[in-house]
Amino acid sequence: MKSLLFSRFLLLLPWVLIVIIVLDIDSSRAPLPALTARGGGGGGGSGGPRPAAARAPPQRRPEAALPTIYAITPTYSRPVQKAELTRLANTFRQVARLHWILVEDAAARSELVSRFVAGAGLPCTHLHVPTPRRYKRPGLPRATEQRNAGLAWLRQRHQHLPPPQPGVLFFADDDNTYSLELFQEMRTTRKVSVWPVGLVGGRRYERPVVENGKVVGWYTGWRADRPFAIDMAGFAVSLQVILSHPKAVFKRRGSQPGMQESDFLKQITTVEELEPKANNCTKVLVWHTRTEKVNLANEPKYHLDTVNIEV
Ligand code: UGA
Ligand code: MN
Repeated sequence: MKSLLFSRFLLLLPWVLIVIIVLDIDSSRAPLPALTARGGGGGGGSGGPRPAAARAPPQRRPEAALPTIYAITPTYSRPVQKAELTRLANTFRQVARLHWILVEDAAARSELVSRFVAGAGLPCTHLHVPTPRRYKRPGLPRATEQRNAGLAWLRQRHQHLPPPQPGVLFFADDDNTYSLELFQEMRTTRKVSVWPVGLVGGRRYERPVVENGKVVGWYTGWRADRPFAIDMAGFAVSLQVILSHPKAVFKRRGSQPGMQESDFLKQITTVEELEPKANNCTKVLVWHTRTEKVNLANEPKYHLDTVNIEV
């Protein structure tokens, strides 16, 4: 009896092993968690059928839970424009779920920026609006119309999308320098978040002064009487706040340079409500760098080279 059982066992054993091996191969072929698909250029839309992996549970796609960061960048034609945009794109390309809203200060989209956007390798929206001639004077605030065009685009796009639409907006001038850590910090903005800015206001840095996790004042060397003594590069706003304050815009009327930030922020928040980032505003993660005006003293009046090169 015992030997009969044993022989049966030996007979079955290879089959059991084969079944186990086949099952194992099958499970190792199961789809891997989807890698982050980041649309390259053009509106950032992702048409076409969704791959099966896109339906994987959320914990497999950590990026899916990330709010989109919308960066509004005003830009204008000048010899250093392409260099500035190149530096900016090289930074933004490394940030997950970033949508770049480039707004040209021009009557039409330029060829240079259009070509640049097409090859930028990140989701981009390319807008344009000219600054009226009467506002193109030293001593007047810059990029008012362009930032408003970016805001209008954001509001219009999201009117037609179902909630929730987690998103964060910030204003990224084309000549500043942004660390990648800055984007991690601003991504968790609930309403309006703030942080220090380097190389601004005639000091090495300006920063919100924080006590017990709340902003209680400003460390600044310039116009300390500003309600929000902060540079444009020093704050981010949640998309919800932008959508729930549809009239909040940058104003030309009565606006002075350095007051645009305060004029805008007081329409949507209070100092008490601000969320300090960057380790309670003790780390500089963005610098208000300004590019030197380029020396073109030896540039010929008429085109002399045998080729035409975009610079
Ligand atoms: C400071 C602030 O950091 C800016 O956010 C603010 O707009 C500006 O002052 C102001 O006076 O209004 P600053 O370095 O002096 O910045 O300004 P720029 O970097 O020359 O200009 C700010 C942004 O506006 C840049 O992205 C620039 O490309 C754009 N810009 C500038 C235009 O679109 N058109 C212009 O004629 C000039
Ligand atoms: Mn600047």
